[in-house]
Amino acid sequence: KNVHPRYRLGYHIMAPANWINDPNGLVQYKGEYHVFFQHHPYDENWGPMHWGHVKSKDLIHWEHCPIALAPGDACDKDGCFSGSAVVDGEELVLIYTGHHLIDKEKDTFFQNQNIAISQDGLHFTKYEQNPVIAKPPHGSTQHFRDPKVWKHNNDWYMITGHQTEDGIGQVILFKSQNLRDWTYHGVLEQSDDKHGYMWECPDFFELDGRYVLMFSPQGMEPSGDLYQNLFQTGYFVGQYDYETNAFKHGDFTELDHGHDFYAVQTFKDDQGRRIAIGWMDMWESNMPTKEDGWAGALTLPRELHVSKEEQILMTPVEELKQLRKKEHTLLVDKLIEEPLSFDVTDDLLEIEVAFDLEATTAGSFGLKVRCGQTEETVISYDVNENKLSLDRSKSGKGVSGVRRVKLPEKNHLSLRIYLDRSSIEVFANEGIATLTSRIYPVEQNQGLSLFQSDGKVKVTHLKAWELEDIWK
Ligand code: FRU
Repeated sequence: KNVHPRYRLGYHIMAPANWINDPNGLVQYKGEYHVFFQHHPYDENWGPMHWGHVKSKDLIHWEHCPIALAPGDACDKDGCFSGSAVVDGEELVLIYTGHHLIDKEKDTFFQNQNIAISQDGLHFTKYEQNPVIAKPPHGSTQHFRDPKVWKHNNDWYMITGHQTEDGIGQVILFKSQNLRDWTYHGVLEQSDDKHGYMWECPDFFELDGRYVLMFSPQGMEPSGDLYQNLFQTGYFVGQYDYETNAFKHGDFTELDHGHDFYAVQTFKDDQGRRIAIGWMDMWESNMPTKEDGWAGALTLPRELHVSKEEQILMTPVEELKQLRKKEHTLLVDKLIEEPLSFDVTDDLLEIEVAFDLEATTAGSFGLKVRCGQTEETVISYDVNENKLSLDRSKSGKGVSGVRRVKLPEKNHLSLRIYLDRSSIEVFANEGIATLTSRIYPVEQNQGLSLFQSDGKVKVTHLKAWELEDIWK
């Protein structure tokens, strides 16, 4: 298949061609990082789901591997849907959902849970006695998917997304001694009427002395700046008691505020880091790369922490600094009173900028990236409202819209921005907020500029690095 290169990403995970969605089976096995993903290897549109596969020694340079799972067996007739991976002794075990159409016209189906086993991390054999969970203990047999498995003491635990008989999203829990025989262990958490009709891709883990439930609810209503996409990804932080299965937690918080972030999954690596990767698209997103023979990519790996205020902090993993090639120091300690343009036109860039808000009088300020004659992607900060926004209404082909997030008050604003040929990821103030969106600039030689309005802005520093293309 001919894949047009113009929007191909330079340092993100994507398939060689065709469609991908959710990250699956994030794991470290025999010293290598493995990432699988929902993949349709024969078309740029979603279809019978396979598991695509990449691996890496350093979390940065990825190598394509053969398709790990293909549907069509009795246990997964119409799709190998999302799931996770664990290491059990010498074996790498994938746990995934089998999708089964009942009536295509009426869109009825059922879902079950299966495993596949590998001795080498490359070839996977489906367990002969699949499914390991044929149906949920109650409620919908239709919405029962996305198993995430982990070990606690000597037991394996699995959570899946599920829907009650009354159409309420929930996360249910199972236990096992051997990954093959599972018993139902109760509801971990379920939705009230605000939190949607189905919770996709749940993940549950301990981090910095708290427990975190992350999931991707379908059916939340937009509210102000929140929940602007069709489906969301967010979390609860609290305390969990394995004895009583009681999870007490705070409010639902959105994890990323851009246009294209969904179905995140996490894993813990051998340095004890909790690392998250999401799908860098959304179901309703226009994907102009379909014309080029591909669609979908994954976000950069991000390290997670929990703040004292029980917010998740998300920062790019340290290894990403290895991508840095040429460094441009653009500004150091400058009070800016007029727009400034810089001669940095590389399409693979990391930008780091810090503003001193105490010495700033401007009402708003920010950066424009991928600026051409008519195109630009604008990251701006409203000083009075403490709101950071990402505006892609002039970001090129087929995209539009502004996303905003309110930041906790601080006397500085620091941003790290990763720009790839068709994506932008903005990390604000120690990871308290992120904005991830796809952009599709058309014009050539696009630059970078700084702007402010109604006053002056104090820039502590502004730096940019040209980044390595890992796929070349
Ligand atoms: C989330 C999701 C999952 C499902 C998969 C199918 O984006 O809908 O719930 O397993 O995609 O590709």
